[in-house]
Amino acid sequence: MKKWWQKEVIYQIYPKSFYDSNGDGIGDVKGITEKLDYLSDLGVTMLWLCPIYRSPMDDNGYDISDYYQLNPEFGTMEDLDELIEKAKKKNIKIILDLVINHTSDEHPWFQDAINNPNSPYKDYYIFKEGKDGEEPTNWRSIFGGSVWEKVKDTNEYYLHVFSKKQPDLNWENEKVRNDLYDMVNYWLDKGLAGFRVDAITFIKKDQSYESIPSDGVDGLAKVTKCARNQKGIEKFLTELKEKTFSKYDCVTVGEAPGVPYDQLEDFIGEKGYFSMIFDFSYADLDVESGSEWFKRRNWTIKELRDRIFKSQLEMQKVGWGAIFSENHDQPRSISKYIKEEDRNYYSTTMLAALFFFLRGTPFIYQGQEIGMTNFERTSIDDFNDLSSIDQYYRSLEEGFSKEEALHIVNLRSRDNGRTPFHWDDTKNAGFSLGTPWIKLNENYTEINLKAEENKKDSVLEFYKKIIQIRQNGKYSDCLIYGDILPLDIDIDDIIAYQRCYENQNIVCVFNFSNKSQSISLPIKSTDIVLNNYDTISITEQEINLKPFQLVLIATEKV
Ligand code: GLC
Ligand code: CA
Repeated sequence: MKKWWQKEVIYQIYPKSFYDSNGDGIGDVKGITEKLDYLSDLGVTMLWLCPIYRSPMDDNGYDISDYYQLNPEFGTMEDLDELIEKAKKKNIKIILDLVINHTSDEHPWFQDAINNPNSPYKDYYIFKEGKDGEEPTNWRSIFGGSVWEKVKDTNEYYLHVFSKKQPDLNWENEKVRNDLYDMVNYWLDKGLAGFRVDAITFIKKDQSYESIPSDGVDGLAKVTKCARNQKGIEKFLTELKEKTFSKYDCVTVGEAPGVPYDQLEDFIGEKGYFSMIFDFSYADLDVESGSEWFKRRNWTIKELRDRIFKSQLEMQKVGWGAIFSENHDQPRSISKYIKEEDRNYYSTTMLAALFFFLRGTPFIYQGQEIGMTNFERTSIDDFNDLSSIDQYYRSLEEGFSKEEALHIVNLRSRDNGRTPFHWDDTKNAGFSLGTPWIKLNENYTEINLKAEENKKDSVLEFYKKIIQIRQNGKYSDCLIYGDILPLDIDIDDIIAYQRCYENQNIVCVFNFSNKSQSISLPIKSTDIVLNNYDTISITEQEINLKPFQLVLIATEKV
């Protein structure tokens, strides 16, 4: 059955770095409202805002100290109401980030739990006694060090899967769950279209709380083995859905790392906990694991292709996916997937279309649509992201030199995607009249929105075009709802698939190489739906592709 959210194109905003309306150097909600014309012109239909709730900003808002208030630097509740209302007039929906695995340590619940001996909130978090003066287990936090932090003047520790300023909530406690459900419903009643649900597979911990064999020089062990997607999570997620989401016609996008494909059916599809989830299998193909950046992998285009298709086919079996190549935790896609010497208009647009026309709801991360790139920093002091700093020191511990460690962090740092948006080539790229909270990427004088607007062969205009083709083109049904059918091509750096819907069929071919290449495909019709060059050479048996050429052809099924 078709769902309204399959038709959306979602634009992810990192509010801190989008647009600063009042010159304090920090992007804000009013800044988003001011840019609604741009977003509507781009053609996106929904915005996902990264957390804007009250927060000490240890992890830039993923550490919430009040779920019911905005962080003052982002604005007021009135500002948000205004944004929701004005966006609605432009047919743009809003979803917020839902961070319910943990709160900030500055949340009143946690403060009461550690300061009040009879606190009713003690059981809102996970406290355990130390063992012989040591941490209760050897689990390693995602952001480094032990997951356990000692409570001052006691032998008690609290658990934090992420930073020590992000204590995990105790989902075993029904009161916690009910308080969270009330909060979710409060926001949905406000007229939000739904949520992106943060780190949700971490809510269930292995209840035995035992150490496991260490896997690093620090003697600690992967927390993902003991506190991610553990048995029993189904009870919590079913209840979450029943008591909140299912009462509304809302969309939910789960950040659900650690879900094997054979469990997808529980997470998505008619009976799933969420409308869709992100699959990180191809976003993380340059590293062994998303939380160990120093374990780099040499990957190939063929591998990228295999991972994308595997993911697409598994999702297709049971439901719907969220398609992305960038977000606030990932490096910029061009920098990750395209070699430096090959970065140009053709490779950028080829990459954009490759992801955009996969089956699922496409996400565009701010700045992706103008081709923003990674920003190389020369000193560890220039990083803001706490995981970058941890990965740097962890790399040193694992035996890498300072230069190597810096390089590793530059490739993967979450700060790459968090530099301010490039509006134009004036001071601070037009982002702020004050001093930006984080350094800008120096290439803003070349790569910026103003320079690309209304220009032929600009990445921005290309994005507008692909959004238009998917949303309102002759082949929209096929490109939105159509099945995906991988094409088996025996050239390793060409990726090709078909989208098929009723009597429509679109062949999509992407040359992931800086050389011209031909593939044999029996193409009868020549209705070219999209092409990043002016021409394409197609014979009855062959498609001849120029370097990084992509083409979408409406034709009979091949
Ligand atoms: C998610 C967010 C990330 C955050 C973490 C902890 O992975 O995307 O930015 O640091 O959860 O909340
Ligand atoms: Ca501001």
